[in-house]
Amino acid sequence: MGRKFFVGGNWKCNGTTESVKKLVEVLNQGEVPSEDIVEVVVAPPFVFLPLIKSLLRSDFAVAAQNAWVKKGGAFTGEISAEQLVNLGIPWVILGHSERRALLNESNEFVGAKVAYALEQGLKVIPCVGETLEQREAGKTMDVITDQLKAIADKVEHWENVVLAYEPVWAIGTGKVATPDQAQEVHVDIRKWIAANVSEDVASQVRIIYGGSVNGGNANELAHQPDVDGFLVGGASLKPEFIDIIKAAE
Ligand code: G3H
Repeated sequence: MGRKFFVGGNWKCNGTTESVKKLVEVLNQGEVPSEDIVEVVVAPPFVFLPLIKSLLRSDFAVAAQNAWVKKGGAFTGEISAEQLVNLGIPWVILGHSERRALLNESNEFVGAKVAYALEQGLKVIPCVGETLEQREAGKTMDVITDQLKAIADKVEHWENVVLAYEPVWAIGTGKVATPDQAQEVHVDIRKWIAANVSEDVASQVRIIYGGSVNGGNANELAHQPDVDGFLVGGASLKPEFIDIIKAAE
């Protein structure tokens, strides 16, 4: 079976009750390809998760932007995977580069989070990607394979994983990777998975691209054979998110 196109909208730390309600109205009215063609997931900040879940159209799902690395308890300010499951939140984004850089989340920590969330029954979008400095030093795949290895060391079952390749230099910069650049890294990630996890996982796992995706560039990126969808930041807060979803067709 082919890999179903996947579009995630990461709202990051944005929104008020009023603005997210308006955004959901826009999403709910959008005409998009059927669920057979595209899977759509939006990730609001934690505080809006129940509200968005209650208002959002039933063919779109909801994701959290993070989860704690183990069972809940005395971890002030954290949200556990069990709590997300309890709220009926099916997805979680883990290891976003903003958290890796600003909150010092190490590869091993992210790997442990991914494994724990999967064990609790969540579906996970782990993020990997290189900085501009690393790319210019020719280290793109070294960095990404270290990030992937930390996940692969702890994860056995990959059915509920959608990998996001997000070059840090493309995030929020308006400097999108070219279709060739995205395709090249996605192929290399697939090759690494084939060699280090299994051929089956490599051919089945969805690898989505993130970094300055918008309504204007989504179509061309979507036509790359190994680009199975997008993780969208800024543009997921705007009506053009609907145009990005349409790139699945
Ligand atoms: O998670 C989403 C990415 O960080 C992309 O953000 O579309 O604003 O560049 P962006």
